[in-house]
Amino acid sequence: MSTLKAVRGTRDLLPPETELWNRIESTARAVFGRYNFGEIRTPVFEDTQLFARGVGEETDIVSKEMYTWEDRARAQSEKAQSLTLRPENTAGVVRAYIEHGLGESGMLQKLFYIGPQFRRERPQKGRYRQFSQIGAEVIGPVSSGSESPLRDAEVLEMLASFLDELGITGWKLLINSVGSASDRPRYIAVLKEALRAVAPQMCGDCQRRAETNPLRVLDCKIPEDQPIIEALPRIADYLDDQSKAHFSAVLAALDACGIVYEVSHRLVRGFDYYSHTTFEFQHGGLGAQNALLGGGRYDGLSEMIGGPKAPGIGFAMGEDRLVLTLEAQAGQVHPALADAYVAPIGEPLNSAALVLARELRRAGLRIEVGDGSFRIKKSFETGNKLARNIVLLGEDELQSGMLTVKNFDSGEQTKIAREALASALTASHE
Ligand code: HAM
Repeated sequence: MSTLKAVRGTRDLLPPETELWNRIESTARAVFGRYNFGEIRTPVFEDTQLFARGVGEETDIVSKEMYTWEDRARAQSEKAQSLTLRPENTAGVVRAYIEHGLGESGMLQKLFYIGPQFRRERPQKGRYRQFSQIGAEVIGPVSSGSESPLRDAEVLEMLASFLDELGITGWKLLINSVGSASDRPRYIAVLKEALRAVAPQMCGDCQRRAETNPLRVLDCKIPEDQPIIEALPRIADYLDDQSKAHFSAVLAALDACGIVYEVSHRLVRGFDYYSHTTFEFQHGGLGAQNALLGGGRYDGLSEMIGGPKAPGIGFAMGEDRLVLTLEAQAGQVHPALADAYVAPIGEPLNSAALVLARELRRAGLRIEVGDGSFRIKKSFETGNKLARNIVLLGEDELQSGMLTVKNFDSGEQTKIAREALASALTASHE
C-alpha cells in the first residue's frame, strides 16, 4: 500500500521548531497587549461572497488561489452554499465587526488574530498552501478617530517594536499611498493609456495585466521590464490634496519616532480593499518570498461587504516567514534539554520512578523518565541526549531516600536527599 503524506504545500511543524512558533506568538501577544489590542478568532471558512466582494473578484487570490467548494444542503431547511477556506483574515474580521455591531460602541476596535490561512499558490520556500498569519486590525466609526494618520503610524511603530523585540534584524519598511477611491480610477486610466504604448515590449504577464489589472504590472519582477515600469506614471502624482496630507502626516509621525522607511511608488498590493497607506516589511534573508508582512488602510471595505462606514488599517505577518528568518539568524534550533532524566534501575523500580518524576514535575521541573529494562550504560547515553542531569533510582536509593545525581555538564556525581532534589535540580541550571 502506498504511504500517505501531508498534502503538497502543507507541512507538519515538529519540536523543537514549534518552540520558536510559540515564542513568536507569545511575543506578539505581549507586544500587542501593550498597545491594548484584544484577540479575535473568526472561523477558518466563510461564505465565498465575503472574499469575492471584500478582497476583489479580479485579484489573483480570488480568481486563482481560493479553496472553494459547494456545501450541499443536508435538509430541506438548508440551502446549498458556496464556502471558501479563508485566504486572509481581514475580510473575516470586518464581517465580524459588522455582524456584532462592534462600531455601535463608538469606540475604536483593536483586534489581533493568529491562525492558518489557505491559498492555492505554487509552493516554494516561504510560500505554502496552508500558512499562518499573525495580524491585527484597527477599525471603527469615523468619530472614533479611525481615519487619523496617527493610527497608521501607531500600527507601523508597533510592528517595528515587535520585530525588534523578537530579535529580527535587517528588516526594511516600504511604504506608499494608493490614494482614495476617487484618486485610484484616475491613476488607473492614465496608467492603462501609458501601458497601451509599451505593453507589446513587455513580458506575457504584463501584456495581459495591462488590460485586466494594470496596477499589477507594477509588481512585475522580470529584469527586462524594469526600465519600462520605472518610466510609467506614478500614483503619487495623482493623489488629491487630502490624500497627500494623510500620507505626509504618516511619514512625519514615523520620522518623529525615528523609524526608517523607504517610499516605494510601486507598492500597490494585491487586494481591492486598500486605500491611502500601504506597506510591507521585507527581509533580504527570505529569497524570492521576501515579504515578512504586509498591510494597509481599507477605508471602504466595510461598505463593500454591506456594512456601515468603518475606516480601518491593519497588517498580517507571515508566521512561517518569521520562523525562517529567526532560524537563518540563529542557525538550527536545538531541542530544549530536560532538567533531569530519571533512570529506574531494574523494571520493578518503574512505578517508583514515575512517582519521583511526578514530584519533580509538580515542582515545575521538566523531567524525562527512562525504563528499568535499560542497561545502566544505555540510561546514561539516553539521559545525556535529553537532559542536564541523570537521577538514578535503584532499590538502595528508594530505601535510603538518598538519590545519586550526575550533572552531565560538570561530570560531578553527588548524593542528594529526596526532599532537597527539586531545589538542587532547579539550582543546577540557574
Ligand atoms: P498579504 O500580503 O496577502 O496581506 O499577506 C500578509 C503576509 O502573509 C505576507 O507578507 C506573507 O508574509 C504571508 N503570506 C502570504 N501568503 C503566504 C503563503 N502562501 N505562504 C506563507 N506566507 C504567506 C494580507 O493577507 C492582508 N489581509 C493583510 C492586511 C491586514 N491588510 C490589512 N489588514
